[in-house]
Amino acid sequence: MTADAGTRPVVARTRAELRDALVGTPGPRGFVPTMGALHDGHVSLLRRARDENATVVMSIFVNPTQFEDATDLAAYPRDLAADLDRARDAGVDVAFVPDVEAVYPHGSSTTIDPGAIARVLEGASRPGHFSGVATVVAILLGLVAPHRAYFGEKDAQQLVIVRRIVRDLALPGEIVGCPTVREPDGLAMSSRNARLAPADRAAATVLHRALLAARDLHGSGTTEADALRAAMRAVVAAEARARLDYASVADPEILEEAQGPQVGPLLLSLAADVGGVRLIDAETIGRP
Ligand code: PAF
Repeated sequence: MTADAGTRPVVARTRAELRDALVGTPGPRGFVPTMGALHDGHVSLLRRARDENATVVMSIFVNPTQFEDATDLAAYPRDLAADLDRARDAGVDVAFVPDVEAVYPHGSSTTIDPGAIARVLEGASRPGHFSGVATVVAILLGLVAPHRAYFGEKDAQQLVIVRRIVRDLALPGEIVGCPTVREPDGLAMSSRNARLAPADRAAATVLHRALLAARDLHGSGTTEADALRAAMRAVVAAEARARLDYASVADPEILEEAQGPQVGPLLLSLAADVGGVRLIDAETIGRP
């Protein structure tokens, strides 16, 4: 365990070091799980956790079990020194930075299958992804035992699934969803944005533009789910550098595709490939 003269967070690398670092820390305890490569979206989660809790714990762990593609895992950006600087500035007390063995000790074989909600949308294109997410989140919540855990709303399906496993398995912590942080031109912040070629950076705003088109259509009185989906598809189709995977209008809790005219809240979400980088974005509309 290392503490850098009280400036950086205490860094715990093993389960035992984490346990020791948490002994005697005051409650409530807020937790922000991350895969590092911190950007302003993560910082907003850390600051919210700082505002609402006496102790703030974060994890930095690039979880191999949620990557279906070894190239994607290898390409994932890693810069621990920069991450710890950002964590310090956001007031993090403890950073859990485990290696794979600390998270999945030799012989560990238990995985979580969140069911049908993990097989639609992102799950349809990334088989096994949400089992990896659910399993690592369950392990981390078990180790950190937070009062509250903070997740971004951009990863809307992940948030739905995390809420579901916490409820179904009685895991510790209230799950707090936090608003998406965007670049000035609307692009949702994501660690993947760093992989966009300059020529694709402007095109990447297409996801946000598609959400705005559907939101505006809904705002002007169109409640037909198919019309909202078509509005998103049309915006992406007009962007030559983007290839749509899905454009979804779904129930925000069970992620079932909406059909016909809608009265309640709707989760708009989409995924597209922009210059070889898979991007996602989402927004809930029609909340009372
Ligand atoms: O959203 C992420 O960064 C990851 O999916 C999470 C929640 C840290 C699990 O690895």
